[in-house]
Amino acid sequence: MSKSVLILPGDGIGPEIVTEAKRVLELVNQQDKLGLVFSEALVGGAAIDADGVPLPPATLAAAQSADAILLGAVGGPKWDTIPDFQIRPEKGLLGIRSNLQLFGNLRPAILYPQLAHASSLKPEIVAGLDILIVRELTGGIYFGKPRGIREKEGGIREGYNTYVYDENEIRRIGRVAFEAARQRGKRLCSVDKANVLEVTVLWREIMEELAKDYPDVELSHMYVDNAAMQLVRAPKQFDVVVTGNMFGDILSDAAAMLTGSIGMLPSASLDENGKGMYEPCHGSAPDIAGQGKANPLATILSAAMMLRYSLNAGATADRIEAAVSRVLDQNVRTADIMSEGMQQVSTSEMGDAVVAALSA
Ligand code: NAI
Ligand code: MG
Repeated sequence: MSKSVLILPGDGIGPEIVTEAKRVLELVNQQDKLGLVFSEALVGGAAIDADGVPLPPATLAAAQSADAILLGAVGGPKWDTIPDFQIRPEKGLLGIRSNLQLFGNLRPAILYPQLAHASSLKPEIVAGLDILIVRELTGGIYFGKPRGIREKEGGIREGYNTYVYDENEIRRIGRVAFEAARQRGKRLCSVDKANVLEVTVLWREIMEELAKDYPDVELSHMYVDNAAMQLVRAPKQFDVVVTGNMFGDILSDAAAMLTGSIGMLPSASLDENGKGMYEPCHGSAPDIAGQGKANPLATILSAAMMLRYSLNAGATADRIEAAVSRVLDQNVRTADIMSEGMQQVSTSEMGDAVVAALSA
């Protein structure tokens, strides 16, 4: 049975990095007989230029019918002056996320031992770091109502937001996290602020309830302030971390920076059935677009996540990740991860190296 993959190159370096990821996907598709069928559509600034909107109906329809989506990145200075926020490139992404209900955001922070010097922390604290942050993406305080700025008695203005999760929202992100932990080191740390916020008291209760279905996974709890501290003190103590939208936003960016290399970090956003959109954590890097300098590895690693989480091809995903590691062993580096004594290569040469490692 064939499976459909929608490719959305987007803007800036998007098309360059996606081209390399697609070469890798086409190769493993052939080698491992995965039966993947690829199609492409416009999103973001590229779609604004062609159709006047960041998420054309045809792109949304293609996203809805695909089994998985691989995205480059969207945005750039060219579209930053559009006064109407509804037709900014970023709306293309948000539109796909909300229409497809991609609530489960998986953000691995992996530090390849070969790049340990790139971290802001000491090599012995981070070398070999491999943690996964699972962030709830479509609920919580970023979406809760009521929200706004209003005037109180005496003309004093106050801003207010609502932090709300119902138990079904907590349960479904909890399941994503427990399933991921089951496939990894079998330890899950749920991060909350249950000493202060009622919504996270419920969060903690539901996580405990779910734990009964996953006796093979060890569940622990941590307050978010302590989690922030532990992430920079001893990050390797974590395996999988699950948390709400706002805490996850902050913790996943902090975790990403421990690795020191934005060009290496993939991500996934999943729906209830495991369908998802996969993209590098970085943006469209307009400062280096069109120069062959972009690191395609975050996108190639996103493609590996896609195979693992949406396309039931975990063994192929393992092969791609091993190939990336082998390429680093060969001292091949794009500019963003370059250091003394290494061989600097372009975007397409890095793609060549991964393709060669997969064929060896
Ligand atoms: P950015 O991630 O695009 O770039 C930050 C810095 O990292 C730049 O110096 C860039 O050259 C470098 N960089 C990023 N990816 C790289 C790669 N693969 N290889 C080598 N170097 C890389 O973030 P920035 O500059 O804040 O945003 C640029 C544009 O991207 C904006 O329009 C922003 O809205 C958009 N953006 C889009 C995202 C998405 O599509 N998911 C996420 C973040 C930003
Ligand atoms: Mg953020």
